[in-house]
Amino acid sequence: MDKFAQNIGPIGVFDSGFGGLSILREIRKTLPRYDYLFLGDNARAPYGNRSFDIVYQFTLQAVKYLFNQGCHLVILACNTASAKALRTIQQNDLPHIDSQRRVLGVIRPTVEALGNITRNGNIGLFGTPGTVMSRSYDIEIEHLFPQFHVYSHPCPMWVPLVENREADGDGADYFVKKDIDALTGQCGEIDTVILGCTHYPLLLSKIRRYMPQGISIVEQGPIVADSLQDYLRRHPEIDAKCSKGATCRYLTTDEPDKFSSLASVFVHEVVQARKVSL
Ligand code: DGL
Repeated sequence: MDKFAQNIGPIGVFDSGFGGLSILREIRKTLPRYDYLFLGDNARAPYGNRSFDIVYQFTLQAVKYLFNQGCHLVILACNTASAKALRTIQQNDLPHIDSQRRVLGVIRPTVEALGNITRNGNIGLFGTPGTVMSRSYDIEIEHLFPQFHVYSHPCPMWVPLVENREADGDGADYFVKKDIDALTGQCGEIDTVILGCTHYPLLLSKIRRYMPQGISIVEQGPIVADSLQDYLRRHPEIDAKCSKGATCRYLTTDEPDKFSSLASVFVHEVVQARKVSL
């Protein structure tokens, strides 16, 4: 707990597994001067089918761990955790843990960006079963853009394909095509599809192959990166607590060599992850 008291520290980026790397990569492009500490709970991924309470407990453990490592700002680079745990952590836990620290999610910035993307307001959503069932996107979209229509479809196989390093395999083609057909079959007018899970950009080449022409695919990485940049501009008191040494460290709850080899390919640099227990 000694580092908890540090005045400045890296920005924490958390996901159940590899998916958060799709967010981290874009954040680092936009904000290269900052230090980052990525934590993937690969040993317990996927979170997508887990109950509200378990996702909340696991996410809170991860947030506390990152705070203990000196992070003052933690990004939940995970839609499932953003949907099921973010609000409770912000409202109930942070005031007790440390009211000066911040935890941000990925759903709100994604929804805010829709206004500049869709032409007809018919929005498709892919997400984990947990994210889709939570209706977090529907509620947020209804709030910001009540005139839009949301059509959602859960993809329970996509995260396991990524976590098991099968994203480039033939099996992935089958599931990606099947789920795209199921979503677009709900409404022929969908013009924008949100990839509402940070693992899904790791399947992007296959998603592009099977998505009907003319549909905009919303990737969260660049949107979350822009939103974080804006947040840090608006909150200089938080920005001042984020150290700026342009470093990035990786932690995983599973086998670090396996994590490092896939992560290195994805972030285009040598990754040497360290194993931690939450
Ligand atoms: N990458 C996460 C998300 O954005 C979690 C996926 C999972 O663990 O099921 O939802």
